Amino acid sequence: MTRTQVAIVGAGPAGLVLAHLLHLRGIDSVVLERHTREHVERRILAGVLEHGTVELLTAVGLADRLHRERMVHHGIELLFEGVGHRIPLTELAGGRELTIYGQHELVKDLIAARLATGRPLLFSAEASAVSSDEPTVTFTHNGQTQELRCDIIAGCDGYHGVSRQSIPDGALTVYEREYPHAWLGVLAQTKPSSDELIYAYHDRGFALHSMRSPEITRLYLQVRPDEPLDEWPDERIWGELRTRLDRADPGWRLHDGPILEKSVAAMRSFVVDPMRHGRLFLAGDAAHIVPPTGAKGLNLAVADVKVLAEAIQAFYEGGREDLLDAYSATCLGRVWRVQHFSWWMTSMLHRTDDGDPFTRQLQLSQLRYVTSSTAAATSLAENYVGLPLP
Ligand code: DHB
Repeated sequence: MTRTQVAIVGAGPAGLVLAHLLHLRGIDSVVLERHTREHVERRILAGVLEHGTVELLTAVGLADRLHRERMVHHGIELLFEGVGHRIPLTELAGGRELTIYGQHELVKDLIAARLATGRPLLFSAEASAVSSDEPTVTFTHNGQTQELRCDIIAGCDGYHGVSRQSIPDGALTVYEREYPHAWLGVLAQTKPSSDELIYAYHDRGFALHSMRSPEITRLYLQVRPDEPLDEWPDERIWGELRTRLDRADPGWRLHDGPILEKSVAAMRSFVVDPMRHGRLFLAGDAAHIVPPTGAKGLNLAVADVKVLAEAIQAFYEGGREDLLDAYSATCLGRVWRVQHFSWWMTSMLHRTDDGDPFTRQLQLSQLRYVTSSTAAATSLAENYVGLPLP
């Protein structure tokens, strides 16, 4: 049996940022990750960081490579009826900007930072049980099953992780919504076709043009949740992207190139309340999932662990439990704001299952409003760049 102060289950952005914030406060932790290092460093996910996320990472010394390699954006485009409308996010949101930097690149930086502290981070370490009364995590590593005793457990192991699943039925209220859509995402080796992100509303379904670097484009297409990937050869993907991203401007052309990676991701909204059971605190996707429109998942995870690190510090320094007790409510305020924004962006931009004409008119009305009223555009902008961290 081993002992630590905080057992962190999961080495995604939530677990790794928390580990670092605790390290800076002199608090011991052990991070357990069930996948290999190669797996977590290669998993292609979203790539938009809010202003506040970057500020936090910078303040704690986790953003050196990010500042060298990121792309800074000041606006997005909403494309509908063949016409693009720019939303000047930075201008509308008090100078706050967006950072484009792949999540897996950030995870590489976070892993390197953790290893540099000399504190434990175990890969291929699968937690099988989490007990919150006498806080203990049972896990298997190198074929050996071990118990990790601690004061506090941080469940940062995602939606499918064991942490939330170990909480007895009925202890948490679950709020959930499934969407009849999914996103087919591709990473392509080609120069972005626009300087900014393009969110496209089209009768054939939503499309998104994003990017990772001056040479790598990231693109998404709305598809059905059960969409078989093998029905999407590269040429079909490019054809569909060309159609949905097309515009009246004769100078416009979608650059294509080799597709490096493709995958389909389902969309759901999910929240548990409270984000805690005894000495187990859930953070990031273990506690909530947002649909991808607006790229909020990672940012919400970072906001959670900022609150959690401060609460854990108060616990060790002054024996105070009040911030731990307030953790869930503090986080859920932001979680529900972001849930609403992600649901709203999703609802405005995705074709309904049956192409219902009434819904279509509502969506177009909302798109025209948000691209013509400064008040409406400002609301989108302040949510998109991110409200100040708690
Ligand atoms: C990306 C993902 C998103 O969900 C989004 O809204 C914008 C960009 C991306 O992966 O780049």
